[in-house]
Amino acid sequence: MTGRVAGKVAFVTGGASGIGHATVRALAREGANVYIADINEDAGQIVADQVGGTFVQLDVTRESAWIEAMNLVGENQPCLDILVNNAGISPHDSMEKFELDQWRHVHSVVSESVALGCKHGLGLLRQSEAGAIVNLSSIAGMIGSSNYASYGAAKAGVRNMTKSVAMLCAERGYPIRANSVHPGSIDTPILDADKAKYGERAITAREQVIPLGRLGQAHEVASAILFLASDEASFITGTELIVDGGFTAR
Ligand SMILES: NC(=O)c1ccc[n+]([C@@H]2O[C@H](COP(=O)([O-])OP(=O)(O)OC[C@H]3O[C@@H](n4cnc5c(N)ncnc54)[C@H](O)[C@@H]3O)[C@@H](O)[C@H]2O)c1
Repeated sequence: MTGRVAGKVAFVTGGASGIGHATVRALAREGANVYIADINEDAGQIVADQVGGTFVQLDVTRESAWIEAMNLVGENQPCLDILVNNAGISPHDSMEKFELDQWRHVHSVVSESVALGCKHGLGLLRQSEAGAIVNLSSIAGMIGSSNYASYGAAKAGVRNMTKSVAMLCAERGYPIRANSVHPGSIDTPILDADKAKYGERAITAREQVIPLGRLGQAHEVASAILFLASDEASFITGTELIVDGGFTAR
């Protein structure tokens, strides 16, 4: 088999939609055997059928579900080579008006889920000759934003915990690299609520502040994830790859 990740075993959370879906397609196209993990069974199964992968129903917030999912992979594969912690939600709130229950929910889905994925993925990733973790953060985890308070704080956590797991693996001699990807505004279903509320303005207002003058596409983030997951990035660990059309370069 040929391809940039040929023969590797990959596990992608949130693989049923948007960036996760595009990542599943890119990894499968480049020769990986892909596990598509998502809370959405119907959409996830369709993606798995499209690429000849395996669907795993997983609520990334549940530790017991992570243990079951990794057991399933371990029963069928000698190792895990690529773990993409991508599942997420992005509701609006502010430091002035957030509800504590909602704040905790956002941290559970966006940040704790990645910690659980790293913790329970390490065992199988250690069996790989060249393992890679790619965690989806956001530019919201790097810069302040008045209307993404809980999301930004959770994504900042993802940025930092990626460096922690990268350092752990390096110090222990585990054959695993870990990096974070930071998308800007990408046209995926995660923007649907904004489109429903603000109409075209949800897009045009974003486009106006992006130097490249448009939203990103899911496949453009998937390309960055594919690179970091592949052996082409063999000396890259603990770093951040921004995919934002130049937004944070201003
Ligand atoms: N689209 C953007 O503009 C953008 C920008 C920065 C970062 N991101 C990040 O990229 C990642 C993917 O976002 P997207 O735009 O593709 O969104 P999306 O809504 O298209 O896809 C998110 C996927 O995550 C799944 N998911 C949600 N909660 C889950 C849970 N508890 N357990 C398992 N799966 C769950 C959903 O079912 C869905 O398939 C997210 O982490 C998001 O925060 C997106």
